[in-house]
Amino acid sequence: MSELTIASTHIIERYLSMELVRVTERAAVSAARLRGHGNEKAADQAAVDAMRRELNRLPIDGEIVIGEGERDEAPMLFIGEKVGNRHGPKVHIAVDPLEGTTLCAKDMPGAIAVMAMAEAGKLLYAPDVYMDKIAIGPGYAQGVIDLDASPTDNIHALARAKGVKPNEISALVMDRPRHAKLIEEIRKTGASIRLITDGDVAGVIFCTEPAKTGIDIYMGIGGAPEGVLAAAALRCVGGQMQGRLILDTEEKRKRAHGMGVLDPNKKYDMSEMASGDVIVSATGVTDGGMLSGVKFGKEVIETETIVYRSITGTVRRIYGEHREFGKFKLD
Ligand code: FBP
Repeated sequence: MSELTIASTHIIERYLSMELVRVTERAAVSAARLRGHGNEKAADQAAVDAMRRELNRLPIDGEIVIGEGERDEAPMLFIGEKVGNRHGPKVHIAVDPLEGTTLCAKDMPGAIAVMAMAEAGKLLYAPDVYMDKIAIGPGYAQGVIDLDASPTDNIHALARAKGVKPNEISALVMDRPRHAKLIEEIRKTGASIRLITDGDVAGVIFCTEPAKTGIDIYMGIGGAPEGVLAAAALRCVGGQMQGRLILDTEEKRKRAHGMGVLDPNKKYDMSEMASGDVIVSATGVTDGGMLSGVKFGKEVIETETIVYRSITGTVRRIYGEHREFGKFKLD
């Protein structure tokens, strides 16, 4: 608890945690109906539509700051879109209605519906570019890891801090050709690596429970929006994370500048990506290491959701049983 910042005032009422659960549940159920159909776009659109509908029922004056793209590219849940019934607190929202579109389309483990809500101005406006990220869970002195240190130094420092040998450290890295050197260097330290094909929001969150997940550290490059969502979750339970946007073209630098990123090389700390009062909710779409996927029974649809609240550090796992009566449909 000592690592968490307890805000003296908060504007996000706690009942909104449960409302966020409803939002990600609906998105997950809608996406899950298209699980394994090989159509990433359709599954994503279904999740977007459901999430948007639910968001617009909430008593909030919300604005999407991380969404499905910028205004011209995305028909729904675009950055800047207003959501909620406007009778409530001014909040900023980061969404990934279907994190792991390919996982869902192929019915592979780890697809989730995820969102974060924070006081206005407290989430980083991250453009849809890559981000170099590093993260560890709670219980370590600040500064154990550093994005600018070499992978070898980070693994050694973490092993010392954990009181183990480097070969007892496990890193999680996305399985991408861009990580060939990183993987080689981590392996040279003796540490093990879990490679994932997609879904690095959950990948970062795995670091928060190393005894359960077997993951001590996340390293490598993934999506920037996913980085902000993961930072928001980490902020609720403690841990450390740093990220740097990869703005390797003039066009990306311009776009980021337009979103308020004045220093293209800035290294963001977890609390610069998500601060203040934050709530994060994620519901499983396909079965995964973090959450079970949606189960469609004869009469009941089952969901599993995890919801985090930064002000108290509370984490709840919510198992939902949903029934569809007559005209009432979940999505
Ligand atoms: P989508 O759900 O948008 O497909 O993102 C999945 C994902 O694996 C993220 O978890 C990750 O941050 C990003 O893609 C990595 O991007 P890329 O596939 O281009 O390496």
